[in-house]
Amino acid sequence: MAIKTYLEGQRKLVDEGLSRYMLQAEGDFAGHIEAMRYSLFVGGKRVRPILCLAAARMTAGGRDIDEAVLPVACALECIHTYSLIHDDLPAMDDDALRRGKPTNHTIFGEAAAILAGDGLLSFAFDLLSSPDDQAIAPAARLEIIFTIARAAGPLGMVGGQSLDVANEGRAISFELLRTIHRSKTGALITASIVAGGIAAGANPGQRKALTEYGNAIGLAFQIVDDLLNVESTTEQLGKAAGSDAQRGKATYPALFGLEKSRGLAGDAVGRAITALRDFGPEADPLRGLAHYIINRKR
Ligand code: IPE
Ligand code: IPE
Ligand code: MG
Ligand code: MG
Repeated sequence: MAIKTYLEGQRKLVDEGLSRYMLQAEGDFAGHIEAMRYSLFVGGKRVRPILCLAAARMTAGGRDIDEAVLPVACALECIHTYSLIHDDLPAMDDDALRRGKPTNHTIFGEAAAILAGDGLLSFAFDLLSSPDDQAIAPAARLEIIFTIARAAGPLGMVGGQSLDVANEGRAISFELLRTIHRSKTGALITASIVAGGIAAGANPGQRKALTEYGNAIGLAFQIVDDLLNVESTTEQLGKAAGSDAQRGKATYPALFGLEKSRGLAGDAVGRAITALRDFGPEADPLRGLAHYIINRKR
């Protein structure tokens, strides 16, 4: 199946899940929930939930796992969306455009945007741990929650964001740049894939392959984000192009130039494909997603 058709179908599935699980903007907290819903439903590629579903199906051995994994996939999108709302705040990247629309804080104000992010983060763990949902066995659920909490927190995404901000305008080593990219972006991407595997009962060998694949495409994803920031337009991206150089961000193009950066992203995708060598056609969606990540235009 062409990747475009596949992605459209998967996005629809994720969006239906989000509509089903997300709180309605009503009652005492309607205004707060409205701000959360604005960023969640304004668009987005849904890459993390799609990876989560694809990894779960790959390891499920033909069992229908979608319904069990969908809350996990949606929780990942809530965490990702929170990270974007906070990433765009004036104190961080100070961006006015996201997913082709005004950023959360430009619509709702800074305080409400901070709280919308906080709300989405906590709601993700509400969704992951809900006693009403018993589709995934308790031990596997606990492991999924730990995997995601670890990846989203101080040793993962938040830690990476703190390094990203602290190193604006500085010349940094390749090792530190790689650490920033692996933590601020790679950690949650890897966790999305591994969580899908855990939900489907992946064995240790499968988990190892999923982790290697995730680490590789997570790095490639952020290198491509850096490249697009230089090479694409605000209109095409739905977020500000050229902003990394303006803010003196530590990026692959800044350290290596465009051509070498593209090569390094390609190498990472090659490692991702190699990590799937022991799988047959059941891994084709993950293979397709790896190629999509490097060829994407937004
Ligand atoms: C953007 O993520 C931020 C990064 C971690 C690079 P995406 O490119 O997945 O953004 P959306 O979800 O499609 O808006
Ligand atoms: C995004 O990094 C990382 C997270 C939001 C966790 P960037 O700041 O490079 O992403 P964009 O380009 O604003 O989407
Ligand atoms: Mg940032
Ligand atoms: Mg940013």
